[in-house]
Amino acid sequence: MKRFEDKVALVTGGNSGIGRATALAFAREGARVVIAARRGDLGQAVVREIKENSGDAIFIKTDITSPLDVENLFKGVIDHYGQLDYAFNNAGVGGPMNRLAKQTMETWDLVINTNLRGVWLCLKQEIQQMLKQGGGAIVNTASTAGISGSPGSAIYSASKHGLLGLTKSAAADYATKNIRINAVCPGPIMTPMLEEGFIERPAMREAYLATVPMGRFGEPEEITGAVLWLCSDEASFMTGYSITIGGGQTITP
Ligand SMILES: NC(=O)c1ccc[n+]([C@@H]2O[C@H](COP(=O)([O-])OP(=O)(O)OC[C@H]3O[C@@H](n4cnc5c(N)ncnc54)[C@H](OP(=O)(O)O)[C@@H]3O)[C@@H](O)[C@H]2O)c1
Repeated sequence: MKRFEDKVALVTGGNSGIGRATALAFAREGARVVIAARRGDLGQAVVREIKENSGDAIFIKTDITSPLDVENLFKGVIDHYGQLDYAFNNAGVGGPMNRLAKQTMETWDLVINTNLRGVWLCLKQEIQQMLKQGGGAIVNTASTAGISGSPGSAIYSASKHGLLGLTKSAAADYATKNIRINAVCPGPIMTPMLEEGFIERPAMREAYLATVPMGRFGEPEEITGAVLWLCSDEASFMTGYSITIGGGQTITP
C-alpha cells in the first residue's frame, strides 16, 4: 500500500518547477493528482508523465487570480474524483525586480493578486470541501523572502510574509476541524522562475548564491519531501507552521 493510495491531491502551479516535482512525487506515492495552472501544454505533459508511470492525474486550466476559474477548478476536482484530501497552493509569481520606489502598480496587482488573493480564493474552496469530508491537509508555498527582507523584491517579500500570516490564521480557524494548514519556505531553487530572474538581472545569480551558506541553489525535488510529509499522518500535530528549506539561507543575520 502506497502512502497516499485512495487520496486526491491538488497542486496549483503543478505544470512547472516545484509544483511539477511535487505532482510527480504525490503520484509516485499513489495519490490521484489534479494539476492546475494556465499553460495547458505543460500541464498535459505532466499528466502524461504520471500516466506513463501508472499513475492517475488530470489537468484543469486555471488562472488563480480569477474567482470564476477557481470555482470551476474545484467543481472539476469533485466532478472527476469526488474528493479532495490534500492541496498544495504553490502557484506564484515573482514579478519584475526593482527597488521599492521604482515598482509599479501593475507589479503590485500581479504579485498580490496571485500570491495572496489567488491562494486565499483556493483556500476558501479547499476548506469548504474538507469541512464536508471531515478533514484534509493544505500546504502553501511561501519563501525565505517571507521570513526576511529581500532587496529588489519588496512586493514579492510582502506577499510571502502575508502568506505566512494567512497560513497561521487559517490554521487557527480550522485547528479543531481536522484540517491542517502549513507552509514551506524554499530558498533559491533552480526553476524557470529563478532562471528568468537571472536572465533579467545576471548579477543576481552571484548575489543570491552569496546568501546561501551551502553555496548552491536547490533543486525542486528537495522541496517535495517536506510537502508530502506535511500532508501525511506523520505530521498530525503540525498546523500553522512553516518548514524552511534553503541551504542555510536566513540562519545568520
Ligand atoms: N524558485 C525559487 O527560488 C522559489 C523560492 C521560494 C519560493 N518559490 C515559490 O515557489 C512557487 C513555485 O515557483 P517555481 O519556483 O516552481 O517557479 P515556476 O516554475 O515559474 O512555477 C510557477 C508556477 O505558478 C503557476 N502560476 C503562476 N501564476 C499563476 C496563475 N495566475 N494561475 C495559476 N497558476 C499560476 C505557473 O503556471 P502557469 O504560468 O502555466 O499558470 C507555474 O506552474 C511560487 O509560489 C514561488 O513564489 C520559489
